[in-house]
Amino acid sequence: MAKLSVRDLEVKGKRVLVRVDFNVPVDQQDGKTVITDDTRMQESLPTIQLLRERGARVILMAHFGRPKGQANEKYSLRPIGLHLHDLIGHPVVFSPHTVGPDADAIVKSLHEGDVALLENVRFNAGEEANDPDFARSLAALGDIYVNDAFGAAHRAHASTAGITQFVEQSAMGLLMEKELKYLIDELKEPKRPFVVILGGAKVSSKITVIKSLMEKADTLLIGGAMAYTFFKAQGIETGDSLVEPDKVELAAEIMEMAKAKGVKFVLPVDTLEAREIKPGAETRNTPLLTKERGLTPGWEGVDIGTGTIKLYEDEIGSAGTVLWNGPTGIFEIADFSAGTKAVAKKIAETDCVSIVGGGDSVTAVKQFGYADQMTFISTGGGASLELLEGKELPGVAQLSEKE
Ligand code: 3PG
Repeated sequence: MAKLSVRDLEVKGKRVLVRVDFNVPVDQQDGKTVITDDTRMQESLPTIQLLRERGARVILMAHFGRPKGQANEKYSLRPIGLHLHDLIGHPVVFSPHTVGPDADAIVKSLHEGDVALLENVRFNAGEEANDPDFARSLAALGDIYVNDAFGAAHRAHASTAGITQFVEQSAMGLLMEKELKYLIDELKEPKRPFVVILGGAKVSSKITVIKSLMEKADTLLIGGAMAYTFFKAQGIETGDSLVEPDKVELAAEIMEMAKAKGVKFVLPVDTLEAREIKPGAETRNTPLLTKERGLTPGWEGVDIGTGTIKLYEDEIGSAGTVLWNGPTGIFEIADFSAGTKAVAKKIAETDCVSIVGGGDSVTAVKQFGYADQMTFISTGGGASLELLEGKELPGVAQLSEKE
């Protein structure tokens, strides 16, 4: 059954508690907190503005960082509230306490269309413990609950899950809806060929996602350091590259599984190897990798090689749907970024449904200037991975069903 959407709600005059994910990257400049990427805030605006236009009194709940259940000025949401004021063009009343009489008084002072932001929910130990008493205190501040915090929907916390037990109606926000549309619905019957690019450092963190995507994808392109564990499983020399020795057997099983399912499981045919992990380090492209000729001892694989770039570009170029999760190399260092950049560029140029599934690949797409050319970019790192693994997210599971 489908979940209730914020669009289905009667909100005029009501106090609507909205959980958002404002856990944005920040920098300290001249003693001031500067938001370096406000994408998550921008993406939550449609829900906030819809509620304001419909006459709701909007109470925002969010976490910021990991303050471990204690108030800590470093993790205050106050600067985030100031930025939100600029984004929505309307005052955002900041409540220095998350719950209690002060928060209550601030909520009572709101008129239709007004917005309040409660201090970091994680300043309270009850948040991460999903404590019913804390969830009840949050719920008491509103009439209806909306969860738009996709990035935190894999957490079963008081403001993302427990609170639903203490409100009559709980619904998805527009961002939550959009994330589920692309990361679940769009991948149920993808336009084929469905090509998945999986990168990242460790195969151990991607096992479940590989297995789950193998059920749907036509082609899996492997990049990042996790490729070296697969090389090891094939008896290819990996030099000084990052390998998870206890996962070598599993890597072999995964390759067998792909064969049995008729999924094209593509590993790099060559790599960029470097003497050291630092800008300006000596690098070279390995020749075509074989059992007899692998990476060089004393050298470490840092990106896919030139032959692999061409191979992956061809696969991406003929795709109907591309899902990308994880860079192909250490793209943060310009000398090792060619593979990740080429993948981003090719996806951008290809006429396909392109979904970038959170985390480092999102950073890469933005850094290389291709974000506008992707069909969808997820705002969730861990949450998008868990969804792609086929898991149900606690922040979604407990929302009200549509009548
Ligand atoms: C994130 O940034 O991935 C989310 O906001 C969740 O944050 P957390 O990993 O601290 O729970």
